[in-house]
Amino acid sequence: MRIEIPTNAERFGANLFYPVQKIYELDGGFEVDSAFDNPFHVIQQIPYEQLYGIEKDLAIVIPVKDERLRLLEGVLSGIPHACLPIILSNSKSEPIDRFRMERNMVDTFCRYAKKKYIIAHQRSPELARIFTDGGYRHLLDDDGLVRHGKAEGMLAGIALAHLAGKKYVGFIDSDNFFPGAVYEYVRIFSAGLSQGKSPYSMVRIQWHSKPKIVGSELFFTKWGRVSRITNQYLNLFLSHYTGYETDVLRTGNAGEHALSMPLALSLDYSAGFSVETYHFVSLMEKFGGVLPGPYPEIMKNGVEVFQIESRNPHLHEAAKGDGHIREMIEYSLSVLWHSAICPAALKKEISAELRRQKITGKNREPVKLRQYPVLSGLNFKAAAKTTDWTQFGNFIPQ
Ligand code: GDD
Repeated sequence: MRIEIPTNAERFGANLFYPVQKIYELDGGFEVDSAFDNPFHVIQQIPYEQLYGIEKDLAIVIPVKDERLRLLEGVLSGIPHACLPIILSNSKSEPIDRFRMERNMVDTFCRYAKKKYIIAHQRSPELARIFTDGGYRHLLDDDGLVRHGKAEGMLAGIALAHLAGKKYVGFIDSDNFFPGAVYEYVRIFSAGLSQGKSPYSMVRIQWHSKPKIVGSELFFTKWGRVSRITNQYLNLFLSHYTGYETDVLRTGNAGEHALSMPLALSLDYSAGFSVETYHFVSLMEKFGGVLPGPYPEIMKNGVEVFQIESRNPHLHEAAKGDGHIREMIEYSLSVLWHSAICPAALKKEISAELRRQKITGKNREPVKLRQYPVLSGLNFKAAAKTTDWTQFGNFIPQ
């Protein structure tokens, strides 16, 4: 890959937030190009070996809820062979057992491709056992099963990736129409993670565009209704502390993102669709230096957040209606509003925005969502002893 060198990061305590990087070539050539030796170059070449070096240690978690099987199969076909896919499904088992259909398809696909995979149902007792035996009950409901929700599935995916011995974990939605875009996202993950100088790094994808049909023409929109609003308030949050207005944060709702495992285990998480915005809140609260935190190792090494713009347009299953969009706006803004370090003036502005969007009424606080503490609190050794890998596909950790 040939891609801009990340520079001019906004610093917030130990966090480095890099501006969006542009990709020049998705395939940067096989041989190392000496033209890039010049120290004043603004573009870098990331050789294939370096990408592969990340991908062999990278698990890709694919959250699924009642999506079309063909879409899921397309997503699988876009994931480079070296990566381990982890399909985390919350699909219905009644009246039709969709999970069984997914499992059969994934098994057949991976048998043909000779590929290792992990699959789990979010509400299965086998999955819940990891959290019971590991002493991390926060994710379990009154029935002792992993709670519903996308974030909850993602957390279970991180736990499985760590148990599987992976050093990195990425997320790709299962409703993507273009396997080529999925392939690009994973390549962006490995390119981004390979730039990290700290063991604590994250890559977030900014979509190039989202095609829509307007009249009878294709129109390539840049910003979704949710991300436009989320990014605006995230940047105001950051600007308050740095004292300089900024628009550096462009990926407040990035469903497609990847983390190094040490960072994935060190963040707090928020429920459902607030999870991606909350990454930033957790980073700023824990490593921003405003609140005291017991993380000398992370404060010393720093955290790097890379934002990279994809080249493929993003085409996924049609939006799930206005209610879903409004819920996502509320969830994204509510995690900012409820942050212990959210300035009072910004709270006021967020409340006004929520009223403007007719999401909350006057004098009503935004909904407070469930939060999950760091996954490093899970006793992985204890969980590993009782994990029955035959229940989760064809992957057996070495
Ligand atoms: N395991 C699991 N559990 N997966 C779920 C659940 C759940 O409870 N709910 C949804 N999913 C899966 C869906 O099947 C899909 O693959 C993915 O999670 C995203 O869900 P969508 O319902 O399609 O979300 P969206 O398209 O509105 O929003 C996506 O993009 C946003 C950025 O624009 C999500 O990735 C958001 O998190 C993201 O912010």
